[in-house]
This record gives sequence, C-alpha cells and structure tokens, in this order.
Amino acid sequence: MKEKILVLDFGGQYNQLIARRVREHHVYAEIKPYNKVSVDEIKAEGYKGIIFTGGPNSVYESTSPRCDAEILNIGVPILGICYGSQLMAYLAGGEVGSAENSSEYGKTDLEVSENVLFKDIPTKSVCWMSHTDFIKNAPEGFDVIATTAKCPVASMCDSKRNLYGVQFHPEVTHTEYGKQMLYNFLFEVCKCSGDWKMENFVENSIEEYSKKLSGKKVLLALSGGVDSSVAAVLLHKAIGKNLTCVFVDHGLLRKDEGDFVERTFGEQFGMNLIRVNAEDRFLDKLKGVTDPEKKRKIIGEEFIRVFEDEAKKIGKVDVLVQGTIYPDVIESGKGDSAVIKSHHNVGGLPDVISFDEIVEPLRDLFKDEVRETGTKLGIPYELVWRQPFPGPGLAVRIIGEITKEKLDTLREADAIFREEIANAKLEKETNQYFAVLTDLRSVGVMGDARTYGYTVALRAVTTDDFMTAEWTRLPYEALEKASSRITNEVKDITRVVYDITSKPPATVEWE
Ligand code: XMP
Repeated sequence: MKEKILVLDFGGQYNQLIARRVREHHVYAEIKPYNKVSVDEIKAEGYKGIIFTGGPNSVYESTSPRCDAEILNIGVPILGICYGSQLMAYLAGGEVGSAENSSEYGKTDLEVSENVLFKDIPTKSVCWMSHTDFIKNAPEGFDVIATTAKCPVASMCDSKRNLYGVQFHPEVTHTEYGKQMLYNFLFEVCKCSGDWKMENFVENSIEEYSKKLSGKKVLLALSGGVDSSVAAVLLHKAIGKNLTCVFVDHGLLRKDEGDFVERTFGEQFGMNLIRVNAEDRFLDKLKGVTDPEKKRKIIGEEFIRVFEDEAKKIGKVDVLVQGTIYPDVIESGKGDSAVIKSHHNVGGLPDVISFDEIVEPLRDLFKDEVRETGTKLGIPYELVWRQPFPGPGLAVRIIGEITKEKLDTLREADAIFREEIANAKLEKETNQYFAVLTDLRSVGVMGDARTYGYTVALRAVTTDDFMTAEWTRLPYEALEKASSRITNEVKDITRVVYDITSKPPATVEWE
C-alpha cells in the first residue's frame, strides 16, 4: 500500500501548504474535506498519519466543521493544527475558550517540553500564531507540552493514542522549527519511510502508462505551458508514437514561441506533433472586437473548433490526456470532485471529440513537483520554469482591437523586456513579467522629428498564488534599459510606463 498522510481539511487557508510541506519530507500527502470521508474510509485507506488543518471557525458554533470523535481511537497518529488542535481537544473532552485578550497573531515566543514532537528543537523558539480561541484545559490523558505567554496549551499530546495538537502553525516558515516538528511527526510518530520521490514517480508512471495504454491511440492538447508539456513528455516516454500531440498556434503567442515548442517537442523529443497554424482563423474572428470578455470567448470557442477539425482528421481516439494538476483537483472544504481544467486549451474538449477515457498523469502533483518531474524528464529549463502565460495569449495584453501589426509590435517590446530581465538576472525576483500594448497614443520626439506612437506598459508581479500580487520593485537600471531599447528598437512605440498597481485592486493581466 502506498505510504500516505491524510490532510483533513477544515477550511484553513494553509491546507495546501501543509500537504506540500509533508511532501517536501518525501511523504505523499492528500487533502480531503472533513465531511467527504468517513472514519471507515480513512481506516480502509491505511494512512500512516492524519493532520487536522486549521479553519476559521470556533468549535462551539453549531455550524462549525467537525468530524466523528471515533477518529481519535482508530490507532492512526493525528496532528491537529490551530483549529484542528482545538477540535481535537473538544472531541476528546477538553475545554476550548475564547477571550479577546487571548488572541495571538504573528510571531510568538514558544516554550516546549521534552517530547518526541520537539526532538532536536531548543526549549525556546519562535512560532507563528493566528487565533482567538484557545485550549483552556487539555483533555484527560493529554499532557501539555508547550506554552506561550497567552496560551496555556500551545501544544498537547496523548502519547498512548499518538494524538498531538499545536495551536501554532508549523507549516509556515515563520515558525522557526516548524519543518523539524513536521519531520518529527512524520518519521518519529508516524514511522514513515519517506518514499515519495520524483524519480520514483517518473519511473512508476512510465511503467504504469506503458502497460495501461499499450496499443491505444492517445491524444493530448499541447499548449507549451508547463503542465501539458510535462504530461506530454511523460506519456511520450511511456507510449512513444502512440501519443499524438496537437499544438494549436493561434498566432497570439510570444515572439518565436510557436517555433520553440515545435523544435522542442517535434525535433528534440521526436514526438508525434501536429502544429496547427491557425493565426488567420483567429485574427479573422477577432476583427473589430474590443471587449475583453468577447475576445476571450471568441478565442476559447475558436480553439475548440480548430481542435475539433484536427481531431476529425485523426479519427477516433481511445484516450484523451489532460494536464490537470493537484490544485485543480482539490477544492478546499467543498468536496473533491474532479474538475476538468478550465484552461482555455483543454476546457470543453471532451465534448467535441470522441474518446473512451481521460488520463491525467499529473493529477497528484503540486506545481513545484510538476517542475521537478519536468526537469527529471530532461525538459529544457526555459520550459520547465516558464512563467504563466494566459490561454488567450497576447490578446489580453493588447487593449482594443487586435491586429497582426499590433501583435508584432507587442511581441518585439515584450521580447526586449524579457531579455533585459534575463540580462539583469532578475528572473527569480519576479513571478510574471510582460509588456502590454495600450491603445493610448502619445507624442514623442526622435531626432528632430515629432513622432506619434503607442504607449507600452511593462508589468512585473511578485506572488505565491496569483490570487493576490504585489508589483515587483524592479531596479530602475533594468527598467531604464528596457525602456530605452523598446523606444529605440520598436517602431511605433514612443512611450514606456511601468505598472505599479498591486492585485487587488488591479488584476495581473490588463484585460
Ligand atoms: P489575473 O489577470 O486574473 O491573472 O490577475 C492571474 C493569473 O492567471 C493568468 N490568466 C490566465 N490564464 N487563461 C489562463 O490560462 C486565462 O484566460 C487567463 N487570464 C489570466 C494570468 O496570466 C496570471 O498568471
């Protein structure tokens, strides 16, 4: 049976982070909503341990998320975090209290006793707290093993049943020894062996799919993004030419991107790759359209039509591959129904082509694991570390009507900006960076002549999850260089501005 840890999700904001931290210790972790899995199912799955996540509720609210108290008695070690520890205390008969002056937020001094959970951790260290409720009295059978100034039970344990609770968040980096605590829980308490390694994942997947898909006709929509690229190479290694990759080039890609994808997958990996050059079809449909939502819709629909035409030529396929990854699958606290990725280039495809089965080889992986897998598979660095690129491509970075000329202008400006970021070795300082062609024209001067051209906006953001983002404080020198090169080298651009808006209130993309 695969060694794994269950992260039981009570709606906390760090549930994915907890699973990732466990996996960083080479132990597979899966997240399940608290109300979607019964104690019997948990028993049957053979988990080595369970982690109760935090959550925004108070255990005494009638609607607060709770699980069956029986879970404490099935012999599987449990670590409760924040709300999870309060719930553990509540289920085991302890007392949880709430008082204004007991809330703690941020870095807090922690004092721990000698306990296996705190092995190799000094008595005094700093932890990260974020709570109002607190455990007033540990349940019978539990020992208090850590305190803070305001928390009489910052951590507790019932060593007979292997139940541990921590009021703080070991998964966030501000908890100085959080990583060690999780390590101790996984290896000292749960006795995990740490067999979740990407090498194993790659090897096992290749073996699994080479058997499972042997002799089948398999189709994959390749976008050139990280996920579909990694899925493609993995399956190519498993089934070779039985995999057909269709790459729809809608003409809205960045400079030289289509050729790069073709070269990498067609030539370097020798894949069965069909590149569909559909620029004219897309531009034709986008003629005169300025509304951002309309643009997106048209591109999404046209994408499906193009793919459909291609699929007709290929005929019936047995299997359709999707680049779904783990964050697409889990929906915090809501249920773990499999979501077909709503990415423009695969969303809707199942409706238009006929196939017997969908295969999602990356559905257990987080993004960083997908990248690691890609590296292990020998996919070029530029591709594995590619910044996100929106499905509708440059269409959402050209304000107003899209024309071939504008696309070419933007491609040049964007390429220069990216080049300058690379020259200044800033790629790792920012998570996404690109140029936007505004439809604002302004006056400039070149030589002795008056010019009148477009304004380009440069955008660079720093973010973990793209839900919120800060504008990146790029050094002036790099911005200056990019601006000077863009205005000198790109015809029709007279002005360059830098976008200093965070998200919210702005979005990352301009449209
Ligand atoms: P926003 O503009 O919503 O962007 O702040 C957040 C992240 O999502 C990307 N993005 C898209 N990706 N199809 C995609 O596949 C889309 O339609 C799309 N729109 C935005 C954006 O580049 C950023 O990384």
